[in-house]
Amino acid sequence: MAKLTDKVAFITGAGAGIGRAAAELFASEGATVVIAEFNEANGRDTEKAIRAAGGKAHFIQTDVTSEESVKSAVAKAVQVAGRIDVLYNNAGGSTSVDGPVTTCPTDEFWRAIKVDLFGTWITCKYGIAEMIKTGGGTVVNSSSVFALVGTRNKDAYTPAKGAVAAITRSMAVEFAEHKIRVNAVAPAVTVTERVRGLMQSQPDVIRKTAERQMLGLVEPIDVARTALYLACDDSRTITGQVIAIDGGMSIN
Ligand SMILES: NC(=O)c1ccc[n+]([C@@H]2O[C@H](COP(=O)([O-])OP(=O)(O)OC[C@H]3O[C@@H](n4cnc5c(N)ncnc54)[C@H](O)[C@@H]3O)[C@@H](O)[C@H]2O)c1
Repeated sequence: MAKLTDKVAFITGAGAGIGRAAAELFASEGATVVIAEFNEANGRDTEKAIRAAGGKAHFIQTDVTSEESVKSAVAKAVQVAGRIDVLYNNAGGSTSVDGPVTTCPTDEFWRAIKVDLFGTWITCKYGIAEMIKTGGGTVVNSSSVFALVGTRNKDAYTPAKGAVAAITRSMAVEFAEHKIRVNAVAPAVTVTERVRGLMQSQPDVIRKTAERQMLGLVEPIDVARTALYLACDDSRTITGQVIAIDGGMSIN
């Protein structure tokens, strides 16, 4: 039996990387996937790939840094798919501009807060409100191993992901009575196109982090599979957890 039969999954940033892997996996498990993505070409490409594989998908152009855009995307998702059962707040990521607080541009701090933290917060605001109406659901947030262990050179991205871990716990407590579970994935270095770019522009930063991953680098599908577990009933008694997918980095 497929794990997300008849479920509607709203996935932000599903046009590339981990989000795309999750969109394809969730669709193959029976979900109707809403691709809430900023980049139209990538969003349409994910939609096309899912439909070509026999799955159900709707691309809705969304900018998670804009309240109006998120509000409208959630409303459109409910219009086209009927409800939201799974909300995967995946959009985000660090850049090569990040660094130690003493040298990192202040704008980079606000960029990370806006995309990773505000983007998650605002999508929960409208997405969870819909789940309450239909009697429950699951939320998967995207934190990072940087929220769990001390690392260097990411003093803009790390606080954003740390706060995502914190709101994962507080929202889990807040919404348990509505049968809504809230968990997060916390990947270490995961080989997406964006990270391949960072490997070239920040080879030392990525190498030093990756050296701590005893089981090697993570692939997007590894994160997608954990997100699927947290999204479906297999994890029905798990909430408020931040799950490291890190090749052992956080215990090393
Ligand atoms: N790749 C890693 O090593 C790694 C490690 C830890 C955590 N993460 C987290 O996993 C998530 C996915 O990372 P990834 O490496 O797959 O990223 P990615 O850059 O490959 O894909 C991110 C997607 O989000 C979209 N996006 C960006 N800004 C957006 C916005 N404002 N609104 C809507 N969509 C937007 C992009 O267009 C892109 O399609 C991020 O939250 C990231 O911080 C990644």
